[in-house]
Amino acid sequence: MENFKFWNPTKIIFGKGAIRELGPAIKKHGHKKVLLLAGQGSSKKNGAYDGAVKSLQAAGIKWVELWGVQPNPVLTKVYEAIKLAHAEKVDAVLAVGGGSVIDSAKSVAAGFYLSDIWEVFEGRVEIKRALPLFTVLTLSATASEMNQWAVLTKADEKKKWAIGADALFPLVSIVDPSVQMRLPWEQTVNGAIDALSHVMENYFVGTDQEVSMAVCESLMRTIITMTDRLQAHPRDYNARASLVWAATMAHNGVSAVALKGGDWSAHKIEHGISAIHPEVAHGTGLGIVFPAWILYLRKYNPKTFSRWAKQVWGARNAESAVKKMRTIYSKWGAPVSLSELGIGSKELKTIANNAFRMGSMGVVKKLTRKDIEKILKLAL
Ligand code: NZQ
Ligand code: ZN
Repeated sequence: MENFKFWNPTKIIFGKGAIRELGPAIKKHGHKKVLLLAGQGSSKKNGAYDGAVKSLQAAGIKWVELWGVQPNPVLTKVYEAIKLAHAEKVDAVLAVGGGSVIDSAKSVAAGFYLSDIWEVFEGRVEIKRALPLFTVLTLSATASEMNQWAVLTKADEKKKWAIGADALFPLVSIVDPSVQMRLPWEQTVNGAIDALSHVMENYFVGTDQEVSMAVCESLMRTIITMTDRLQAHPRDYNARASLVWAATMAHNGVSAVALKGGDWSAHKIEHGISAIHPEVAHGTGLGIVFPAWILYLRKYNPKTFSRWAKQVWGARNAESAVKKMRTIYSKWGAPVSLSELGIGSKELKTIANNAFRMGSMGVVKKLTRKDIEKILKLAL
């Protein structure tokens, strides 16, 4: 087994009614005024916002609100939030929403101390500190509630890029599955496919890292089974809660231990798609790219791909497993080809070029621009 470092300082408060503990948690850390960042309104309907402000009020924490973070969040909104954070002299940031809101909040927290947060995305500046970050999660997908990563789009340059830093781990995240009980089915599926993809990004570089590989297999099976169960019984709390926690575990570092940092080229290719087509949700893009990626890469780590086929899909080889995977994604209502999104062969070069700008691609195999085009062709 490879040497590794593992560190995850985020405290998770999980379960029905957990939002009540938000205010006391912020107070305990000595903060007095937070910037509450939110999306386009769903958190007013699912109870997360009401629960959060009630808890802030009860604990005597002041707040200022900024709404309007969009899915595939953009840099300009983050600049607006940083300006407000300075003007209002907040001492912490509170994200109420899904991955897009949390990623924006992370960028605000770090950008508060920098002249331009985008310099970090370009790799020219390092994050040394950030405002303390608290989150109330409303959509399980990214695990941003318990990791150090953030993804933003600089729309004018069509760059959807990522940053990571120790200072970006949230201090406390409230994860109450009951606010996701009425999540639109499409969002549930996007979240499940994203979580599944996070596990696969790590798993496929594996060879014999037995603990992590077994954890990954169990997470993948759980995500698939719980999503299926929710399709049949949308109000099944235990299925929802299991999916929620599996999604957090899928990208909080636990299942990635000793797996060389994972591969992440399927993610980069997806980011190349949603950078150009911001209307395409991250999970939707991954549901299309990942099966094609597996078909293209399976010969480079054949033992692990066969193990995955057997352990996760009960299939005799990777090709049959991909068939099963696409069948289940379609049953969940997710597109499995670029053509279903209206993206044709003419665009493949542009997407490949966009993804390739992110720098070195792939660990299972170092990918060239041509490789990316071939993967995209398999996704048509
Ligand atoms: O904006 P609102 O009104 O809140 O609506 C959101 C949004 O339209 C809605 N939603 C959220 N919670 C809901 C709800 N609707 C009803 N009920 C609820 N309880 O769902 C829509 C999508 O939200 P979004 O936050 O965009 O989704 P997600 O959590 O999937 O985040 C996706 C973003 O995270 C990035 C993706 O690339 C994408 O930009 N990623 C972040 C990662 C990380 N930080 O570690 C890793 C991932 O691989 C990913 O790249
Ligand atoms: Zn993802």
